[in-house]
Amino acid sequence: MKAKIDPERVLFTRNPMIYGQFLEHFHRQIYGGIYDPGNPLADEDGFREDVLEALRRIRVPVIRWPGGCYVSAYHWQNGVGKRRVPSYDKAWRTEESNAFGTDEFIRLCRKLECEPYICTNAGSGGPEEMSDWVEYCNLPKEGRHARARIENGFTEPHRVKYWSVGNENYLDGEIGSKTAEEWGPFVREAAKMMKRVDPGIQLSAAAVADTDWNAHLLKNAGRWMDWISIHGYWDELWQENRPAGYEQCIARTDDLDRDVRRVRGLLTAFGLEKKIRIAYDEWNLRGWHHPRVDDAPLGDRDFIAARDLNDDNATYTMADAVFSACFLNMLLRNADVVGMANFAPAVNTRGLIFTYDRGIVLRPAYYVFEMYTQLMGDEVTDCFTRETPVMKAADRFGRERAPEQVDIAATRHSGDGSLAVSMVNKHPRDAVEVFLSGIPSGRNTELRALTGTGPDAFNAPGITGARPETRNDLLSRGEDGALRVSLPPHSVCVLTARE
Ligand code: AHR
Repeated sequence: MKAKIDPERVLFTRNPMIYGQFLEHFHRQIYGGIYDPGNPLADEDGFREDVLEALRRIRVPVIRWPGGCYVSAYHWQNGVGKRRVPSYDKAWRTEESNAFGTDEFIRLCRKLECEPYICTNAGSGGPEEMSDWVEYCNLPKEGRHARARIENGFTEPHRVKYWSVGNENYLDGEIGSKTAEEWGPFVREAAKMMKRVDPGIQLSAAAVADTDWNAHLLKNAGRWMDWISIHGYWDELWQENRPAGYEQCIARTDDLDRDVRRVRGLLTAFGLEKKIRIAYDEWNLRGWHHPRVDDAPLGDRDFIAARDLNDDNATYTMADAVFSACFLNMLLRNADVVGMANFAPAVNTRGLIFTYDRGIVLRPAYYVFEMYTQLMGDEVTDCFTRETPVMKAADRFGRERAPEQVDIAATRHSGDGSLAVSMVNKHPRDAVEVFLSGIPSGRNTELRALTGTGPDAFNAPGITGARPETRNDLLSRGEDGALRVSLPPHSVCVLTARE
């Protein structure tokens, strides 16, 4: 196939927050995950040093917290101060110690030098509680909540810029769910109070790619909003943990931009496309497994134990890596409207990083983030492809899809003009040659390739099935000056071309 990039034609500058992460109080993400006081691998504040180091390597720009569904019954005041009283978590039906709260989250973000993004309780909570949280975090000293923060040892405000109203409140199963008619006015009132406490905050609100929901939301609250949140999980495993196989996952890359297109269209229809950005603030190929959360009887612990199934490393394969790279490429192509995205979650459950007592595992998709955050540029440039082979693949419901075999996104570093082109070969077995023109001659080219021992390759303690390597042997120059790149099957490659 052929690809032509035009490095002079910069389409947009991407926001680095598209490489963000998410952490929820769910199973082993926080406790026994990133936060594990007493573990020999934890630092003086209880954070796992090995996890922090891995997160620093992927230059995490922003973390969304504390949920997810968890936040819809979370009262932030339980998680601050010297005396933390455990409470019952009505979202996930476990006991929450409240040991990790706002101040611990901010400390984590400071250690990673990333932006905190707080999602508020729009389920059992209301505008008053949300705006009190803004006061606690952002006011220098005015008000009892700001003064409580000072008493808790934080004389300087936490300066949290990114906030959102609610999480998935459109779902019946969400605690305190709302109808489309209720949601718009609710967000408007919450936003008004939050911004009266700190007009400098940027605000999002829970949404879905649904015309009715968004029309009510934007009409009532559009003037207060800076972001609109949507979520995406393609392999839904909430009740039954039967992860889709490689080709079934690849089939779903067919329509990755569907929801972005829909939300973009509505923003445009309301004349808000320049004002409001999309925050894709939860996304993952695999949905989390948390069966029977509504109806498991008291005393039945199996429904909690079932959450361990999320952490079977053998189920995170090159499918996750290839899918994630295609998703990030889609975000780059839509970087004019998508300004933030948060992989859900960062640690354990379906995360990029798996923790165990003696160390961590970096799952294949982790390396996609490593390659993209370290190598891809901040400017998205024009890229035109021809003769792209098309695959045939059925998704897990048996629906035939026809995704293109190769996904390419081209970028440039504004600082030094160097180029970085991501090329994903989705085919499970076949290599493919890409003839790439537009890279000025005389550049130093290098190819980083994330490949696996097979499409189902995975990483686990003592097993490395997938990892990136420098593979300049896959590059050659054709007679017409085009660069010939041989993409291995089921691989994610980033070509860099420096002066
Ligand atoms: O399945 C996990 C949940 O997924 C998160 O809490 C929620 O926000 C999302 O639907």
